[in-house]
Amino acid sequence: MSKKNILTGIKPTGTPHIGNYLGAIKPALKEMHNDMYNYKLFVADYHAHTTVKDAKVFQEYVYEIAATWLACGLDPEKVTFYAQVDVPELFELTWLLACHTPKGDLNRAHAYKALVQANVEKGNKDPDHGVNVGLFTYPLLMAADILLFDTNLVPVGKDQIQHVEIARSIASRINALYKTEVLVEPEALVVDAVAVVPGLDGRKMSKSYDNTIPLFCPEKRLKKLVNRITTDSSEPDAPKDPENSLIFDYYKLFASHKESEAFKSQLMGGISWGEAKAQLFEKINDEVKGPREIYNKLMENKDQIDKFLKEGAEKARVVAIENMKRIRGHLLGYQK
Ligand code: TRP
Repeated sequence: MSKKNILTGIKPTGTPHIGNYLGAIKPALKEMHNDMYNYKLFVADYHAHTTVKDAKVFQEYVYEIAATWLACGLDPEKVTFYAQVDVPELFELTWLLACHTPKGDLNRAHAYKALVQANVEKGNKDPDHGVNVGLFTYPLLMAADILLFDTNLVPVGKDQIQHVEIARSIASRINALYKTEVLVEPEALVVDAVAVVPGLDGRKMSKSYDNTIPLFCPEKRLKKLVNRITTDSSEPDAPKDPENSLIFDYYKLFASHKESEAFKSQLMGGISWGEAKAQLFEKINDEVKGPREIYNKLMENKDQIDKFLKEGAEKARVVAIENMKRIRGHLLGYQK
């Protein structure tokens, strides 16, 4: 049986936080090294440029994301790990796909529609106010990401399903037109949020709410942030209700069932929030301190990160060049 091609992209638009780690990175890493797959993971740096316009900040985000995955255990021998910027064939394919995409399909893309909707609601005269063409054609570059590598499966969150569907429909349109399988028709592999990770204030952890715990912040800061997690105002020795406690919610995300039960009894028995937070800090820190060391080393030696990404891109480009030749041949008749 031939191996399935799996590919997914990560957009570097912020410092990775505990929500990203528990919700996406950790579960993905569990699947990634399976020999049944031919797995590609890439940094969607060009996608991030639709919104991140400061080159310095941009570089930070790219390195942070790459270092995070490597530090959390991504094995570049098993997973082809690269950045879009190193695969120029993507842009050639983006153009070809654009010539086979009805503009209406992009008008209907959720992300674009949401921006238009917001403009209309704000009473903006121009419904496209602040929408750059990069945002509008975002699904085309994403389709190229996927289709260039004959991808069968695309692990994505729910918000990205429509983008994979767009890629699929472009592929099927092209295949029908040229009466042969020019492109593999991909499917989304929907990864339900394994864990909805609350932020410091109890809302979903998100950069836009400013309630995140950066995954690899220094130990001291981690301790401070854990101390900031919202609790009720019960007296120190009063019994605490674990089911309505953010501290317990967090603890469960990092602990085994048995450990969680023990912690629960302590809460119900009446340990102070201070003590509970100290235990929670230890629990989180135990898990992140090893990777944090690797992360810090990588961030101090960015050449190392570059080296991993370049090697990954070399592997990816062997496939990209070959596939592009095939696609160009079918669509344009060039045999070079
Ligand atoms: N759009 C995706 C996101 O915002 C990132 C992405 C870019 C991607 N290209 C991709 C995901 C290709 C899967 C496949 O999360």
